[in-house]
Amino acid sequence: MKIFDVYPVYDIQPQRGEGTWIWDSKGKKYLDFYGGHAVISIGHSHPHFLQRLHRQMQKMVFYSNAIINPLQSELAEKLGDLADIPDYQLFLCNSGAEANENALKLASFHTKKKKVISFTKGFHGRTSLAVAVTDNTKIIAPINETENAIILPLNDEKALRETFDKEEIAAVIIEGIQGIGGIYEPSKSFMQLIRKLCDEHGALFIADSVQCGCGRSGDYFAHDFYQIKADVYTMAKGIGNGFPIGAVAIAPHIKPWYGMLGSTFGGNHLACAAALAVAEVMRQENLMSNAKEKGAALIEAIKSMPHVKEVRGRGLMLGIEFDFSIKELRNALLKEYGVFTGSASNTNVLRLLPPLSIKKKEVDFFLDKLNIALQKIAK
Ligand SMILES: Cc1ncc(COP(=O)(O)O)c(C=O)c1O
Repeated sequence: MKIFDVYPVYDIQPQRGEGTWIWDSKGKKYLDFYGGHAVISIGHSHPHFLQRLHRQMQKMVFYSNAIINPLQSELAEKLGDLADIPDYQLFLCNSGAEANENALKLASFHTKKKKVISFTKGFHGRTSLAVAVTDNTKIIAPINETENAIILPLNDEKALRETFDKEEIAAVIIEGIQGIGGIYEPSKSFMQLIRKLCDEHGALFIADSVQCGCGRSGDYFAHDFYQIKADVYTMAKGIGNGFPIGAVAIAPHIKPWYGMLGSTFGGNHLACAAALAVAEVMRQENLMSNAKEKGAALIEAIKSMPHVKEVRGRGLMLGIEFDFSIKELRNALLKEYGVFTGSASNTNVLRLLPPLSIKKKEVDFFLDKLNIALQKIAK
């Protein structure tokens, strides 16, 4: 058998990681300003993370949801405190798409309605419903096509109002900051209008926090910035720092029943230990304020660089829009200057998603390499 070839890859084999740094099979060192798609939150191989996983592995790796697993309640409590949603309920699964799939299903069960509103340039994952509400026809297979997904232009208040007037809406799903689309932020009045219309029409507000959550924006949820509370928050990526885990935080007014949602692996002992370690380090090392501070320094320095049209985002979820396609720049940063960065559907946008634990000297290292690479490209 060989690997099903769906990923275009760089010719690099990372073998070891520590903090914001990665070493490849040839011993070359890289600065990780991408965190493997925003997954590395507390840094590669954080000692507390490794220790907690190791200790748990020696005791018990897995048992199914047919027994009591106290680690789940411990995680629910710690996440509830960290995210300031102590009265919410936690459902655990294994990935971001699965979290969104469950959130959408939950909204339909709860409201007994079928239609969902999502937005252009959004991304919600690749399972059946998650892909149907994602604005990228290339990844929607014929079997995923459904009349129940209504994709509206972001920030179009008129279209939002009209759709709520015309259709029976179960939920609105929206990222706090759009990631893959190119780091676009909804306006404050748009987010608040979604909240208002959901309340008036009995629909659920689903905050997709898979990429923009876990403190990355400087707030625990990027949606917090808009001074609203969602009915459902979906999480994955950063909450496990590389250990696969997905989570759905559900407001107290939504009631569960046995069998409503489920998963074999969701909430297993090892995944809980990983997410607990992340939550503990986030708190102990003040990583949300570090994200805010380092993000502000990056924005300030980058906005005056040559060819930069705009710097978007908050905290350590940033998009730099250049006046040219970033393909060559991204390649040069990686191969010549040893810096991992990300791309976006908007081909002029360089996406920065470093670990939330980055230090000043790493910010300076990045800025120095970006400056040099830009000067070389400009010549
Ligand atoms: C906003 C958002 N939602 C959902 C997903 C899907 O997560 P996963 O790849 O863990 O299924 C992603 C992945 O990039 C994402 O960025």
